[in-house]
Amino acid sequence: EKRLFLSSALLSWYNQNGRDLPWRVRGAHPNPYVVWISEIMLQQTTVKTVIPYFYRFLERFPDISALANADIDDVLLLWQGLGYYTRARKLHECAQFLNQNNGGKFPETYSELLKLPGIGPYTAASISSLAFDKREAVVDGNVIRVISRLYGIAESTAVSLPEIKTKAQDLMSETRAADYTSAIMDLGATVCTPKNPDCSVCPFEGECEALARNLIDEIPKIEKL
Ligand code: ADE
Repeated sequence: EKRLFLSSALLSWYNQNGRDLPWRVRGAHPNPYVVWISEIMLQQTTVKTVIPYFYRFLERFPDISALANADIDDVLLLWQGLGYYTRARKLHECAQFLNQNNGGKFPETYSELLKLPGIGPYTAASISSLAFDKREAVVDGNVIRVISRLYGIAESTAVSLPEIKTKAQDLMSETRAADYTSAIMDLGATVCTPKNPDCSVCPFEGECEALARNLIDEIPKIEKL
């Protein structure tokens, strides 16, 4: 089956080429706190910039209760330079919420995660897949690019987003959900890049519709409705 063929190709590529990043744990799943902090930092900031902030933050506030009990000014101080300070305020607020209402722990399901302060669809899907290995596809700019090229989806992404989400979810591995999420992000960040993607090393080279139809530079078509 094609879907299985594609997801195994992606996972084998990831086994060899996945990035070692501070919020990943080889051979295990990171805890939800680590996923949460990294994903929030990565939302408006590049990986390279985030790394030192991530280390400092985790050292100072190693878990939910350390963050919940911190003074907001100390949290904001560690955030200085990252910008979008609402993110830091929401982190603090959510940690306090979890401490007061959920025994200081994250819920494990997408729908419960979505109810938390500052946690939207993207972050809920990242935490449930990366920390809890649940089959909840994450859809960000990298994923949109990989999926729309693979399936040759040439319409405006504003129009095709529901189709892209469905395809990303269908492609997601049944057995290695967390690795699938990291793999598709890494593929989009390092191989299937916006400009000059390196199709010769892509695990989808033989299956990619955009490549076959010479539409790599036209897809994704990112425009607002
Ligand atoms: N960009 C957003 N989330 C990421 C992650 N978990 N790893 C690498 N890049 C990312």
